[in-house]
Amino acid sequence: MSKPICKIADIIFVRFELIDLAPQKEYMEHFGMFLAYETADTIFYRGTGTAPYCYVATKGNTNRHIGTAYRANAFSDLEALAAAKGVEIVENTDPGGGHKVTIMDPDNIEIEVYYGMEVAERITIDPKRLNTGVDKPRENALQRFGRGSDEWQLHNDRWVYELTSKVKRLGHTAINVADAAASVDWYAKTLGFLVSDNLIGPDGAASIGAFMRCNQGDMPVDHHTLNNVQIMGEPRPAFGHAGYEVTDSVDDLMAGHYHMKTVDKYYHEWGIGRHLLGSQMYDYWRDPTGFTHEHWTDGDLLDATIAATDTPARDLIMAQYGPEVPSSFGASMPSEDVDSFRAATPSLSDLVKMMEQQ
Ligand SMILES: [Fe+2]
Repeated sequence: MSKPICKIADIIFVRFELIDLAPQKEYMEHFGMFLAYETADTIFYRGTGTAPYCYVATKGNTNRHIGTAYRANAFSDLEALAAAKGVEIVENTDPGGGHKVTIMDPDNIEIEVYYGMEVAERITIDPKRLNTGVDKPRENALQRFGRGSDEWQLHNDRWVYELTSKVKRLGHTAINVADAAASVDWYAKTLGFLVSDNLIGPDGAASIGAFMRCNQGDMPVDHHTLNNVQIMGEPRPAFGHAGYEVTDSVDDLMAGHYHMKTVDKYYHEWGIGRHLLGSQMYDYWRDPTGFTHEHWTDGDLLDATIAATDTPARDLIMAQYGPEVPSSFGASMPSEDVDSFRAATPSLSDLVKMMEQQ
């Protein structure tokens, strides 16, 4: 393959337009993010990691995913992108500073590439040590999460578990694309992404998408920073989900699950389970406008020496363990429409069943 225009370092944030920011602010706090900045019309939420923010939403006339932002390794990468795409390098006037270029991907997703953004101070948490059947590093120390049983508090007449997850960073997005080959090719040639898994469709031949990662040479990176999957037909909302790594592993994810479940305001999309492709434990929740956000932990790390694997669609759909994947997974829609969509559409695991029974 020809040399890419640049090799981006990592993902930074997702950008949305929302009609009403107030319910989203409440969701973000339940989901386990921290308000980093707020202007008259824009909210910026961060995790405990070093990105100044990992979620941005601006007040507007529609509810839509605008795009995704990535971090370049060098200013010369912005110069190369600007020259190749015929766009300007502009100063970032939002919090965090630095410079950026903005381009569009083949599915009209806005791609911002930043260099020189500020590095935020980490929010430190106490990492937990886990005793297992074979390794017991914790002795004479009690395992306590948050305030122990005091995390359970009565809200009116109902028990709510108050400890949220602590999001660390945005790790990836999943997008629904019109043409898998065109999307995979664009991300490889423009941002230097490598294919971790090439998804082979039901015909056993054509690619229906990929899990793609950053190319940082011998430095291991997340198994995927992007998952592009070809979806036939319209409407085809391009945004599938945004996946955020939690700070402290399994209990951090589980605590957040029980928090989201007991506040009882949001649609639980899928989980808890363990993915096959990328291996993360996952838990997916829809936000007030129906966009899906994932808590994940314990993902695979690969360096650039690992070759792409051809992977059957079955491995995309069937997790290592967990509940069966619903038909609505990956589709953005208002939460109130999800039940009727699921009732009218065969589940993805039923499609795999049909394929295997043929
Ligand atoms: Fe994900």
